Amino acid sequence: MARGSGIATDALLPGSFHHALSNIDYRVFLRDGAAWMSYSRPSSAPQGTLSGERQLHYYIGSGHRGRTYLFQQQGQWFELPINYYTRRSTWDMAPAFDNTTTMPAPLPVDPNCLHCHATDVQPNLPTARSRFANIPFHQGGIGCSACHGDPEQHLATKGRAPIVDPSKLSPERRDSSCIQCHLEGNAIVYRPGKSLSQFKPGDKLSDFAVYFVRSHEDGDGRRATSQYEALLRSACKQASGDKLTCTTCHDPHYDPTPAERVRYFRARCLQCHTSLAMVTHHAEQPDCAKCHMPSRSTTDISHEQVTDHDIESRPLASYSHLAIRSLDAAADDELVPVGNFPAGDREYGLAYAQEALKGDHHAAELSLQLLTKASLAGASDPELNVRLGYLQQTTGNVEGARASYAAVLNADPFDPSALANLAVIDASSGHLTEAVNLLDRLIESDPTQTAPGLNLVYIDCKLGHQSQAHLVLKQLQRANPDDPQLREYLSTGNYNGQHCALAP
Ligand code: HEC
Ligand code: HEC
Ligand code: HEC
Ligand code: HEC
Ligand code: HEC
Ligand code: HEC
Repeated sequence: MARGSGIATDALLPGSFHHALSNIDYRVFLRDGAAWMSYSRPSSAPQGTLSGERQLHYYIGSGHRGRTYLFQQQGQWFELPINYYTRRSTWDMAPAFDNTTTMPAPLPVDPNCLHCHATDVQPNLPTARSRFANIPFHQGGIGCSACHGDPEQHLATKGRAPIVDPSKLSPERRDSSCIQCHLEGNAIVYRPGKSLSQFKPGDKLSDFAVYFVRSHEDGDGRRATSQYEALLRSACKQASGDKLTCTTCHDPHYDPTPAERVRYFRARCLQCHTSLAMVTHHAEQPDCAKCHMPSRSTTDISHEQVTDHDIESRPLASYSHLAIRSLDAAADDELVPVGNFPAGDREYGLAYAQEALKGDHHAAELSLQLLTKASLAGASDPELNVRLGYLQQTTGNVEGARASYAAVLNADPFDPSALANLAVIDASSGHLTEAVNLLDRLIESDPTQTAPGLNLVYIDCKLGHQSQAHLVLKQLQRANPDDPQLREYLSTGNYNGQHCALAP
């Protein structure tokens, strides 16, 4: 875990590939002591010409399965749209972009991403979730403080102030110190005002977030999940309760070498499975995990277990047939919280809202009911209000939506969804100046917001502010150079079936 992130040049994997669908050549290389990615498309391609470079500052991923890099642009931090895949020893598009026909819009680096992959992560600035005061983190990889807390007190008192010892915590707090980074679920709902980046060792993860999975995936035919979800289902865990935890089998300070592996894990099993029968049980094969915790050696995907932590007597022969779920698959599943994390109307409502964003109409209805109920009961926080506002807006309750968004912006003046969606309400009801003010604030803080940016250009243009519209369009294109709508608007003045000439 110690090599999970760091300075890009310390772990550069030079290479190149041609992405056929988008007609782009990507190349990763070292030049004058700095790491770079270049992208280029010939002018003969139907999408139009494209070329540029990004300087890479940090890497994420030890490279066990893969690696990606971070770059900075106008103060914001972004992730490359391409990944290195270790098993295939190649560069390729990141999993979400297999079918893209253009260079994807820049992916802002979420502070939670850094929380799990780096140490001493800096708080993000309020103006944009991917903007940090200085550099985004001070130490690459998972350092001691991720599990033991801030060492400064400890050192300042010459060792008298204790560091956190996870093994001396209550079972819930102990488990939290690993699963803060090893649990994802289908939907994560943060408690009001909380984020993963505030979590400190010794805290209870359930005070920060609730993780939901679809109920039918809890049984057979489940999706590949995180190790914790799987372990909860195992007979070992169910029969042993709090006695069994991640550190029963894993030493966080030591990764067994390939030669030691079999004996190492076998000894972990035999701590509990002490019956005489185990001595002769499959004596021909010392590797207990090979039969009871088989691994799916074929996965490329970074955030799923490779080793089956369900620990079954007769595990499915192979996991390779388990399809990775696509977003539009089976809709009307119930969502259930992982573990015993408490969840009320707000948490369920926000979890279904995340499903609704993937196009699940039933989830949208459910979410609106639950969030309305939570709101009437007095719950009010930006996350709740922004989702509620969106559901109200899409079901025609414009006044409700307006009030919800106003509450969001009161608490967080830069919330991108509230700014963008309230601007749509304002613009459709003729309040164009208000809409422009909201969108100006949004684009100034985050020029990668292409869709609301296009709305701003369109309104500016309609108001007769042609040169302002042109400036904004150029700014949007610098941030997102291969967006087809930006290209079309710049060259034809057409947007969404409407025309507004940029040149007077
Ligand atoms: C909740 C914590 C969490 C978040 C958030 C998270 N990751 Fe991860 N990531 C992990 C863990 C844990 C692993 C190792 C998974 C395993 O082996 O089962 C991992 C694995 C990876 C790998 C593969 C590493 C390797 O060496 O094979 C990459 C690359 C990666 N993550 C990138 C990212 C990026 C980029 C983000 C942000 C957009 C991100 N992750 C967000 C926890 C997280
Ligand atoms: C991924 C989490 C994690 C990281 C990172 C980590 N530790 Fe630990 N550490 C633990 C846990 C859990 C224990 C409790 C021991 C156990 O249960 O086996 C522990 C125990 C200890 C102990 C007490 C050992 C004992 O046997 O009583 C010391 C000392 C220690 N860690 C030092 C460090 C130092 C120094 C670093 C950084 C180089 C570090 N740890 C990084 C999780 C971690
Ligand atoms: C701050 C986030 C974080 C915490 C806390 C954390 N892990 Fe990890 N862990 C990761 C990431 C990220 C990876 C993947 C690293 C990579 O390959 O890039 C990982 C990898 C692992 C691996 C795969 C082998 C390896 O060393 O790469 C094991 C096993 C593991 N963690 C167990 C634990 C246990 C047990 C705990 C609690 C004592 C724990 N982790 C706490 C983030 C974390
Ligand atoms: C903390 C104690 C503990 C550890 C460590 C542990 N188990 Fe278990 N396991 C149990 C208990 C208790 C049961 C339920 C009673 C039984 O079947 O013996 C169980 C059940 C099982 C079962 C039966 C599963 C079923 O579906 O009926 C298998 C197989 C198994 N364990 C394998 C393993 C293997 C392999 C390891 C090591 C990788 C391991 N266990 C580690 C405690 C543990
Ligand atoms: C009963 C023993 C056991 C327990 C308990 C256990 N693991 Fe594992 N874990 C394994 C084995 C065995 C492997 C495969 C290691 C190998 O092949 O080198 C593994 C592999 C991993 C890996 C590497 C990626 C993968 O999926 O192969 C991660 C990360 C991990 N475990 C995290 C955890 C976390 C987090 C917990 C607690 C929620 C946990 N494990 C509990 C036995 C266990
Ligand atoms: C070659 C494959 C293989 C290996 C290696 C293996 N097992 Fe098993 N184990 C099985 C199978 C198959 C069953 C189911 C037996 C049955 O249904 O009659 C089983 C059953 C079990 C059970 C349930 C026992 C019961 O009576 O229901 C436990 C516990 C268990 N194994 C633990 C272990 C442990 C611990 C190790 C390592 C010391 C291990 N196994 C090694 C294949 C294996």
